[in-house]
Amino acid sequence: MDKMQSIVVLTGAGISAESGIATFRGPGGLWEGHRVEDVCTPEALERDPALVHRFYDLRRAALAGVAPNAAHRALARLDAEWPGELLIVTQNVDDLHERAGATRLLHMHGELRSALCAACGVRTPWSDALPPATPCAACGAKAMRPDIVFFGEMPYDMDRIEAALAQCDLFVSIGTSGAVYPAAGFVRTARWHGAHTIELNLDPSDGSIHFHESRMGPASVLVPEWIDSVLTDA
Ligand code: APR
Repeated sequence: MDKMQSIVVLTGAGISAESGIATFRGPGGLWEGHRVEDVCTPEALERDPALVHRFYDLRRAALAGVAPNAAHRALARLDAEWPGELLIVTQNVDDLHERAGATRLLHMHGELRSALCAACGVRTPWSDALPPATPCAACGAKAMRPDIVFFGEMPYDMDRIEAALAQCDLFVSIGTSGAVYPAAGFVRTARWHGAHTIELNLDPSDGSIHFHESRMGPASVLVPEWIDSVLTDA
């Protein structure tokens, strides 16, 4: 394969599973305890803000009890040592990539440790509980909400993601079921633009057929192995 210059990595809940954060689909999945429609849509926030805020308060508080695993740490090493272009696009709202040291990182579905003013759009770092009707420090409106992209809302930074997919030489998907768009379509976009595509996942996913290579196993094993090989060839 020609010398790689530009890499895009997509991560999903599977990369944080071995850190103790529940994935969404599959046994014991996060959604099993809740109907998505009840906790992760603009209508739910309108209908029952206390339930939605409590759901995200619990997930935000749980971050204190988890830590990055070997897969997050390996990606942070790639971030530090890869000489070419790199963008880590995560669907996850936890902060484990940052805590492992990643910097070339983009949260397309928002972040638990951030609060968004629904009135003025200002985002504020947030680590505590976020009661409904919390006043915004910037505009004063009582409109602070979890800074999470709900179903039916547009993911963040799609222009930047699409530009990265159009010029990358390698696209690697880690720990995602390929169940939710637009992330589920990234492999086809990258492949269409000529990138080599690799899936690292515990199980076959909805998108497995679109990858040049699909390697099955835990992220904590597959990701360090892959990054060792990439940095050896760099
Ligand atoms: N190592 C690698 N992969 C794993 C591991 C692991 N230890 N454990 C689970 N997986 C894989 C599962 O096989 C599954 O394919 O991670 C994937 C998790 O899939 P989902 O639970 O659907 O999570 P994700 O793909 O991130 O969901 C995408 O859907 O609910 C929305 O906004 C939410 O960002 C989320 C999006």
